[in-house]
Amino acid sequence: MKIGIIGAGEIGRKHAEAARRAGAQVSWVVDVDPQRAAQLAQDCGADAAESPEPLWADQSTPAALVAVPNKWHADYAIAALCAGKDVLLEKPMACTVAECQGVNEAAIANDRVLQIGFVHRFTPVGRLAKSLVDQGCCGQIYHARAQLSLRRGIPGLGKWFTTKETSGGGALMDVGVHLIDLALHVMDFPRVGDVCGQTHATFGPRMKDYVYDTMWAGPPEYGGACDVEDSVSGLVRFQNGASLQLDIAWAGNFPQDCASSSMLFLGDRGGVSFELFGDHVSLAAERDGAIVDDRVDAPACDFYEDQLRGFLTAVETRRVTGATGQQGEDVQSVVEQIYRSAVGA
Ligand SMILES: NC(=O)c1ccc[n+]([C@@H]2O[C@H](COP(=O)([O-])OP(=O)(O)OC[C@H]3O[C@@H](n4cnc5c(N)ncnc54)[C@H](O)[C@@H]3O)[C@@H](O)[C@H]2O)c1
Repeated sequence: MKIGIIGAGEIGRKHAEAARRAGAQVSWVVDVDPQRAAQLAQDCGADAAESPEPLWADQSTPAALVAVPNKWHADYAIAALCAGKDVLLEKPMACTVAECQGVNEAAIANDRVLQIGFVHRFTPVGRLAKSLVDQGCCGQIYHARAQLSLRRGIPGLGKWFTTKETSGGGALMDVGVHLIDLALHVMDFPRVGDVCGQTHATFGPRMKDYVYDTMWAGPPEYGGACDVEDSVSGLVRFQNGASLQLDIAWAGNFPQDCASSSMLFLGDRGGVSFELFGDHVSLAAERDGAIVDDRVDAPACDFYEDQLRGFLTAVETRRVTGATGQQGEDVQSVVEQIYRSAVGA
């Protein structure tokens, strides 16, 4: 199957490599930066373009993958759907709930497949945790905790990631959405009741003092902006009485033994926890009058490839098994409510 990639940045390249491994052919690479488009196109034997019209017009390519900065997610996704393409749209789905609704309406109106790039559902531990919870190892989940504690992980400091106008927000929009989606997915998307949260901008604004080892989409652009949060905490209360606590940090002075990124699900029959990029899921349950600990190894997998394979299957079967547009909108709604709570609105 042929697929066009829009956005030849870091994740666009990752998807192009995953497409090759999944046996798909990248037919177009579109990027406003002609050099980036040409380089990636050359690397995967595709045609390059600075605007998406040639891809829209190419009847032999049924699918598009949107991997541009967040500000342009909705516009490209809607244009692709209206051009008759099935779409894999990188996370966050869009910058606002209203934009997400526009994308979902376009998918429905044009009868197109739409999948959101919440790739953590496909990681070894993400899929194992979901299947263990579905098998009943937790019983009824009453609380979940999602924590991403990076010591110095601000991406592209001073560039689009840290500029609200192009990103829509900071750590919450970038990595927080992955954890919110995974938590809701494992919990079967309970209806959200109320949400509160607080954001902090501690490291980004004093850019030149920011010490780091590596930087996604780096190096920093010190003349650029950083007007988004670098950490956020939130509490989501669901209508069924369950709750979700979020602590998400691009950066923080976490002592080494607290710098973990993990998820925990507590139920009336048992509990499940895992490190976000770990190789096993830990379990606790009551058995024969004692609390018993257990561990299940998660079979290794290539989660970008598996996400893409899932999308290609959805294009063929017309049934999305990854994150749907409605779920992307639900995640965005939690994000929006946390931001609203943080400014006291
Ligand atoms: N799923 C994940 O884990 C994951 C990881 C990283 C990034 N992402 C998402 O992927 C998207 C891209 O992130 P990235 O890290 O590749 O960023 P990047 O800065 O490395 O690349 C973005 C690319 O988009 C191009 N671009 C900018 N504006 C454009 C426009 N209007 N039209 C066409 N091309 C345009 C840029 O020239 C650049 O090549 C973001 O939405 C980000 O949230 C997802």
